[in-house]
Amino acid sequence: MDTKMPAVISTAQGLRDVELPVPTPGARDLLVRVHAVSVNPVDHKVRRGGGDKVLGWDAAGVVVAVGSEVSLFTPGDEVYYAGSIDRPGTNARLHLVDERIVGHKPRSLSFAAAAALPLTTITAWETLFDRFRLDAGSTGTLLVLGAAGGVGSMVIQLARALTGLRVVGSASRDESRTWALDLGAHDVVGHDDLPEGVDYIFSPNTGAPGLIERFARILRPGGAITAIDEPEGLDLLPLKAKSISFHWELMFTRPLFQTPDMIAQHELLDRVADLVDAGTIRSTLTTQLSPIDAATLTRAHEMVEGGHMVGKVVVAEPLQ
Ligand SMILES: NC(=O)c1ccc[n+]([C@@H]2O[C@H](COP(=O)([O-])OP(=O)(O)OC[C@H]3O[C@@H](n4cnc5c(N)ncnc54)[C@H](OP(=O)(O)O)[C@@H]3O)[C@@H](O)[C@H]2O)c1
Repeated sequence: MDTKMPAVISTAQGLRDVELPVPTPGARDLLVRVHAVSVNPVDHKVRRGGGDKVLGWDAAGVVVAVGSEVSLFTPGDEVYYAGSIDRPGTNARLHLVDERIVGHKPRSLSFAAAAALPLTTITAWETLFDRFRLDAGSTGTLLVLGAAGGVGSMVIQLARALTGLRVVGSASRDESRTWALDLGAHDVVGHDDLPEGVDYIFSPNTGAPGLIERFARILRPGGAITAIDEPEGLDLLPLKAKSISFHWELMFTRPLFQTPDMIAQHELLDRVADLVDAGTIRSTLTTQLSPIDAATLTRAHEMVEGGHMVGKVVVAEPLQ
């Protein structure tokens, strides 16, 4: 096998095409030939943090080599995964990832359509089933803010497929409103026009002034919020009178801390692959660009940084 591979790194001057050494798998690592990656807001957050880094925390590809203790995959398997924030990202031809956070790619999807899913799927799944502890018997109303965004799109679909909740999304434009309704939202409201009497709130944009007070007003007593962003100086006291619980969700927690239940991410990605192949969940891919190089990834980053994505942008090798 080649000892060097093409990759894209972020530098102070922007993204740059480089050649890097091919990495060697650790005991539970897969070496994956990357065919498609998606871009998430975390890419530009890490980019703004400085330093020369390989970005990219979503990929679909083929396993080409495995570590000595790998038991879930063999070379030739098609996979999709997000990876971990404490390791180099997926913007490279060959990439290492711990098998416990990798799923088998949905058979019915192209590499590009599969690459749109993992990071947002893990975030949405952990929000609904680990933070809110919902199940098929759950009822009440879930408010999904930023409903057409990458994560919101998966929260809507998973909530509709696997719970009995009424799902209300928020969107500010015709295009995003229509997308959220198509994915299964029962209703869509404006970001600042939130309905009263909800039980659960998914919040990707918690820093807006006065938002916690608004959440306290519209949630029922005993309601719950899961936030996934990094609002500064959050005051949660307004939630006390109604005994509202507030959860953080970070989809990198399991790999970052190597938690004993880390393999839950493998299991949920496999479960969602089955739901996709059954036609219950669909890919959120809306824009596909190629090839995987610095110029194309720069375009994709600009789209995501605009803050008004509908679904996901994926950068793939030609013909994926
Ligand atoms: N903690 C975690 O594990 C985790 C995981 C994934 C993402 N995140 C973070 O969560 C955030 C969202 O991620 P994403 O991938 O879903 O982003 P995204 O796809 O870029 O989100 C775009 C969506 O945001 C909506 N939006 C714009 N202004 C809004 C507002 N004031 N309130 C609510 N929604 C608004 C837009 O709707 P309109 O166009 O209709 O206005 C658009 O559909 C980012 O900050 C990201 O870094 C965290």
